[in-house]
Amino acid sequence: EKGGYPDFMLKEIHEQPRVIRDTLAGRLVDGRLVIDELDLSPEELTLIDRVYVIACGTSLHAGLVAKQLIEGWARIPCEVEAASEFRYRNALITPTTLVVAVSQSGETADTLAAIRDARVRGARVFGITNVVGSPVAREADGVIYTKANKEIAVASTKSFLGQIVSLTLLALLLAQVKGNLRQNQIHLLYKQLASTAEQVECILQDTSRIQQAAQRCYQASSALFIGRGMGCVIAREGALKLKEISYLHAEAYPAGEMKHGPIALIEDGFPVIAVATHGPIYDKVMSNIQESKARGACVIALAEQGDEEIQKYADEVIYIPPVQDCFSAITASVPLQLLAREIALLKHCDVDQPRNLAKSVTVE
Ligand code: M6R
Repeated sequence: EKGGYPDFMLKEIHEQPRVIRDTLAGRLVDGRLVIDELDLSPEELTLIDRVYVIACGTSLHAGLVAKQLIEGWARIPCEVEAASEFRYRNALITPTTLVVAVSQSGETADTLAAIRDARVRGARVFGITNVVGSPVAREADGVIYTKANKEIAVASTKSFLGQIVSLTLLALLLAQVKGNLRQNQIHLLYKQLASTAEQVECILQDTSRIQQAAQRCYQASSALFIGRGMGCVIAREGALKLKEISYLHAEAYPAGEMKHGPIALIEDGFPVIAVATHGPIYDKVMSNIQESKARGACVIALAEQGDEEIQKYADEVIYIPPVQDCFSAITASVPLQLLAREIALLKHCDVDQPRNLAKSVTVE
């Protein structure tokens, strides 16, 4: 049932191009984006003036990707909050608030409690889940199913990409109804989004540099992931994946915050994993990499093919195909999933079933 792969995690990582394609299938009809399941009229959608994304763990990171897109494209304020926090505070909810609950399993206790609380207080709640008929699907006003199929490894990989793709569609839909993006722009973005499936395939073909990077840091006791903008979200997910399955302590920080504390951690050989895709502030990330290198860090950089310059400052460069910043979380997360797995294997960890963790967290 592992389909010839040594573990479920690797099998599921390799399923990601298919998940992207299946999650997108049928969403562009006559040049317009369609999400019928949302069950809100275009008029109701136009009125939405605030979005909360509530989730836990990796699903929360998918929410952070959504924030950048919803605010960037639809120009609607979007907050992303751990369901365990949201449920216990008096969040600002009005009838024009859309709450988006993201949960692979559809049964995470805190996410469910947050959904119930939001509905009682009058919000429209939209679920994004991977499990048909799950409690999240039943309790939300509408649901998009990610087409990841059953995910067995505890570490969420293919579900994460399915969530990002679904949330990207939602952001495009909101931009469409708000009239913030023209139809031809939406069409182009949709096509670029679809092409991330091939880009992920390309990343999966050659993992030799990821293996080299793993060799460099698996004996460390701690690692720092840095990035800016979308790169910061990618860093957060990379750090979670690493600590979850390899037990190597990892922390993610916005690269621009380094001088406000974390740079003190850096000494000879300290691993800094830097997300350096070509976002709008790529140059700033490069400076942060140089600052880390100057203090002795072992820099593993995630960069775009063709970026030769970065080799001067990084000990290892993991290259990915060039990608628009708005879609970089889809592609750049994949090598970090693989890096976490390689490090876990070097440390003889069970990558599918890490200690202390359950696939579904159905208790608070
Ligand atoms: O099923 P959910 O998406 O609600 O689960 C949320 C988290 O428990 C989950 O993403 C967890 O963080 C993963 N094990 C991370 O890989």
